[in-house]
Amino acid sequence: MSKYVAAIDQGTTSTRCIIFDRQGNIISVGQKEHQQIYPQPGWVEHNPEEIWKNTLEVIAGARINASISATEIAAVGITNQRETTAVWNRKTGKPYYNALVWQDTRTGDLVNHFAQDGGQDRFRAQTGLPLATYFSGLKLKWLLDNVPGLREDAEKGEALFGTMDTFLIWNLTGGPHGGTHVTDVTNASRTQLMNLHTLAWDSDMLAAFGIPSAMLPFIKSSSEVYGNVVLDVLPNVPIAGDLGDQHAALVGQTCFEPGQAKNTYGTGCFMLLNTGTELKVSTQGLLTTVAYKFGNQPVNYALEGSVAIAGALVQWLRDNLGMIEKSSDVETLAKSVEDNGGAYFVPAFSGLYAPYWKADARGVIAGLTRYVTKAHIARAVLEATAYQTLDVMNAMEKDADIELKSLRVDGGMVANETLMQFQADMLNVPVVCPAVTETTALGAAYAAGLAVGYWENFDDLRQNWGIAHTWNPKMESEQRAKLYKGWHKAVERSFGWED
Ligand code: G3P
Repeated sequence: MSKYVAAIDQGTTSTRCIIFDRQGNIISVGQKEHQQIYPQPGWVEHNPEEIWKNTLEVIAGARINASISATEIAAVGITNQRETTAVWNRKTGKPYYNALVWQDTRTGDLVNHFAQDGGQDRFRAQTGLPLATYFSGLKLKWLLDNVPGLREDAEKGEALFGTMDTFLIWNLTGGPHGGTHVTDVTNASRTQLMNLHTLAWDSDMLAAFGIPSAMLPFIKSSSEVYGNVVLDVLPNVPIAGDLGDQHAALVGQTCFEPGQAKNTYGTGCFMLLNTGTELKVSTQGLLTTVAYKFGNQPVNYALEGSVAIAGALVQWLRDNLGMIEKSSDVETLAKSVEDNGGAYFVPAFSGLYAPYWKADARGVIAGLTRYVTKAHIARAVLEATAYQTLDVMNAMEKDADIELKSLRVDGGMVANETLMQFQADMLNVPVVCPAVTETTALGAAYAAGLAVGYWENFDDLRQNWGIAHTWNPKMESEQRAKLYKGWHKAVERSFGWED
C-alpha cells in the first residue's frame, strides 16, 4: 500500500511539490521560483516553459529530499495560480506567447468595450463574474487578436488553451505524444467562459469573446483520475486531483460545510465562503465560483472576495523600494511603532478587485505628514491586507446573510503575528490558524487521495485538521471605526487613474 500522496502547487511566484502522509503531515518539499516578466506597466507574464522545467525539478527534488520512490506515491494532485492563460501548439508543445498572468491589466480596453453594452455585470448571471481584467476569457481573446497565426491554428484545433493546471497535466501525461487536455470545474469557473449552472463551456460566452471551442480543454471534476504520468519523474503515478489554488485551500482547511470560510494570504489574498450546493449571485461585489466537485458528487459553490495585492506589496517594498532586505523584516519595522501614524497604503497595482472592481484604480499612499517614517509605511503595508479582508468580509456577510464567528487563515503571511493580531482586531472575530498551513497543496493532495481511495471520506480529512494558533480581537470599537474610515478615504483617492 502506498505511503504518500504528492501535490504540485504551481503558484504565482514559485512552483512547489509537497509530499504528504495520511495524517496530512509534510514529508518533503521541493520549491523553485520563476521569473516575473513586466514588459510594460500593468503587464505581467510568465514563461510556461520555465514553469514546466521547474515543475520537473521540484518533483525530483521533493522525492530526493526524503528518498521516496515513485511506487510509494498513491497519486498526485495539481493546484495552480488561477486565470493565468497559456496557449501552446498541440504538435510541438511550444507556447505561442508567454502566459498572461492573472494580475495583468492589458485587457482594460476590452473590459470597457464589453461593459458599454450592458454594464460590468452583463455576464454575471451565467458566469458568476463581473467584467474585469482578472479572468482568462478576455486574456485569451487578447492573445487570439494579437498573436500572429494563433487564431487560425486555434480554429483548426492545433493551438490549445489552458490555465496552468491544464498545461502541466497535458505535459505530464505525454504532451505532443497523447497528452490529456483537461481542466477542472474550479479552474474553468475562472475563465468567464463556463456556465456556472451547467458546468460546461457557454456557447454564448464563446461567441461574445470570439473563442474557438476546438482550443478548449475538457471540463472534469476536481477529484478523479485524469491520466497517469508518463515521465521518469513520477512513472505511472495517477494524476487524480485538480483545483485552483484558492479552492484547494478551502478543501485543505476542510471547509466542507456551508457557512465555513477561509482566507489565504499569498501574493494576493482570497476569502472563500462555502455556500453548499446553492449558487448565490453576489450583489456586493463578490464572485460566485465553484468551490469543488468530488467525482460524481454534487458540485459545491462558494462566494469569493479576491484581493489582488497582499504579500506582493511586501515584496514590492523589498524589491522595488529596497526598504527592507527580506520579507520578514517588514514585521520588525512595523512593530517598532505603535500605529500607522495616519498613513494608509492602497495597493491598487492591478486596479482594485473585490468588492470595488475598479480597473482604473492605481496604488496610493495617503495621509502623509512629516511625522511619518518608513516604520509607519511598513505598518500601513500590513494594515492594507487587513482592511481589504474586512471589506470582503462585510460584503460576504451581506451577500450570504450570515455572521462569521471566526475565520480560518493560511498562506505565507500568517507567520506575521502583527498582521494576524491586527486582522482579528479589524474583523472583530477570532482568527484561527491550523497546524498545517500549507493548505493549498494539502487540498490538492486530498482531492487526489480521495479519488484513488488513499483517504476514504471527508471525516478522514477533518480528523487531520487541528488548531495551531488563535488570535482574539482586542481593539476598542471607536479605534476600529476610526482606522476603517481612514482606509476608505484613501481607497477613494486610488480611483480614476487610467487615461
Ligand atoms: O486568482 C489568483 C490566485 O489563484 C493566485 O494565488 O497564491 O498564487 O497568489 P497565489
